[in-house]
Amino acid sequence: MCGIVGCILKENKNVGSILFNCISKLEYRGYDSVGLATYDNDIAVKKAKGDIEKVNGKLNFNNMEGNLGIAHTRWASTGNPTDENAHPHLDETKSVAIVHNGTLENYAIIKEELIENGYCFKSTTDSEVIVNLIRKYMNEGLNLEGALRKTTENLKGSYAIVAFTKDEPDKIIATKKDSPLIVAYGDEGYFVASDMPAVLDYARNIIRPQEGEIAVLTKNGIEIHDENGHEVKRKFRYIGWTPEMAQKEGYDYFMIKEINEQSAAVKNTLGQKENIQKVINEIGKVNRICFVACGTSYHASITGKYLIESLAGIPTDVVIASEARYSAKTWDKDTLVIFISQSGETYDSLMVLKEAKKTSKTLAIVNVASSAMSEDAQYVIQTQAGPEIGVAATKTYVAQLTAIYLFSGLIAGNNKLIDELYEVPAYIDEAVGKSDSIKALSKRYDFADDAFYLGRGFSYPTALEGALKLKEITYIHAEGYAAGELKHGPLALIDEKIPVIVIIPPGDDFNKTMINLEEVKARGAIVLSIGAEGDEKIAENSGEFIEMNPNIKDIIAPLVYIVPLQLLSYYVTLDRGYNPDKPKNLAKVITV
Ligand code: AGP
Repeated sequence: MCGIVGCILKENKNVGSILFNCISKLEYRGYDSVGLATYDNDIAVKKAKGDIEKVNGKLNFNNMEGNLGIAHTRWASTGNPTDENAHPHLDETKSVAIVHNGTLENYAIIKEELIENGYCFKSTTDSEVIVNLIRKYMNEGLNLEGALRKTTENLKGSYAIVAFTKDEPDKIIATKKDSPLIVAYGDEGYFVASDMPAVLDYARNIIRPQEGEIAVLTKNGIEIHDENGHEVKRKFRYIGWTPEMAQKEGYDYFMIKEINEQSAAVKNTLGQKENIQKVINEIGKVNRICFVACGTSYHASITGKYLIESLAGIPTDVVIASEARYSAKTWDKDTLVIFISQSGETYDSLMVLKEAKKTSKTLAIVNVASSAMSEDAQYVIQTQAGPEIGVAATKTYVAQLTAIYLFSGLIAGNNKLIDELYEVPAYIDEAVGKSDSIKALSKRYDFADDAFYLGRGFSYPTALEGALKLKEITYIHAEGYAAGELKHGPLALIDEKIPVIVIIPPGDDFNKTMINLEEVKARGAIVLSIGAEGDEKIAENSGEFIEMNPNIKDIIAPLVYIVPLQLLSYYVTLDRGYNPDKPKNLAKVITV
């Protein structure tokens, strides 16, 4: 899940500072190491282990001159995070430079063969075979484009590659398979990157090269070549996201900015109601629905199952994308497979989409308009959260939920539920307004080694998502549980050292969840409840009580009750001295 960028500027200037600015915007894709290679009469490379700011402080990318170059920020997969494993990689003659995102399954065999043929390796990455293969084919007489094409014929796995050579110093070229890549242009020049936020400061007209195509960027423009080297004409799409949307705008971290943007994310996604109705009409009748997603998007999908089954009576499954191959065999032409994804680039989900298209109708609910998923699925609903940079999903989750609620309400013809959705932005703002009290509360939880989150019915996915938020950024072990399931095992773990967060909105399941709350209280747990303001029973039985607007009933609660849980995780993370935007070992977009 690395981030890659390449650019060729119309005029010769300080390409280092532009590349550095672009690659900084992709830090959410990985921050184990960073590096740049530029061309100014010769190839210059600077790279090192560490996050972007730290490495730049040491190496100063800004003074790298020339009009073209490539950059990389790494999330280590093959090979430890070290200076040697940082990209870009050069061949031994220092005449070809590449950056790579993805994983190569057969690199070990290729490496062995190249070593036998006298090629040298300095890193333990899979990526270094790419630069050596390109050099090998160029030694055999091919030009850079031909050599890259021949190289990719040897590769098994996923890749987005950007390359240049001092033998043809007027171009950079790029290609991809199962890893994201966009090509874009603006006033300054021509760009290639893993993701849009990288280039928004310079280029907003984009296309996405298809598998097998090679993008050739020169000072005069961009050409896309098919597998036979013939030019393919493509229409560039103008992207409405502004550079400001991907800035912190005075907030300390992206995560807190994005938590604050949640009411807008819901409001803007509610604006998609007509489009969603149109999509529903086009899809027509379906007998069965299956959601496919990962992580936070999987939690949104569980809410989707509960809604669709209870409101519309359509049998609905939810499958984790990486597990789908073990259960996806029974889909048919009357099945609608819904893919939920913030990035629209999650590898596991994309692989299932490829399969699902062969048998069934497919719908993608995605936040990134130009993503692979939005191009591959038959039908698309775009959530309107704007760019999300923090690794922990927040505003894209409530936007996904909003789209799912609209979709479910519309197929069930449930106008009451749809009307209620328009109250949600105000409820969210009220919840965000509790920020200071949750910050004070967080100090009582930052010591914990473990925590449990309990919820029942519509609050069960909220418990899963609350626990995921806590573990991914605070590194506290947390489990989300169906409240009624606790007594089937985990209750054995509950004692006076364990915080238990109980999600208990008003509704039909309230009394049952209250019994679960009392069960954990009886075992001495530190109980923090989230429920309706003024509820005396909750107050009496809880150590702490986050009081929510009492008009929020259980069915609508997932859209709002997640907010205090996000805030709690955010402030506990700060208390523990970590950066909430960059949790260790994680990246925003999982393309492997
Ligand atoms: C959660 O905070 C994570 N960012 C992660 O679980 C994420 O939801 C998952 O990787 C799926 O990503 P997607 O929505 O982009 O497909």
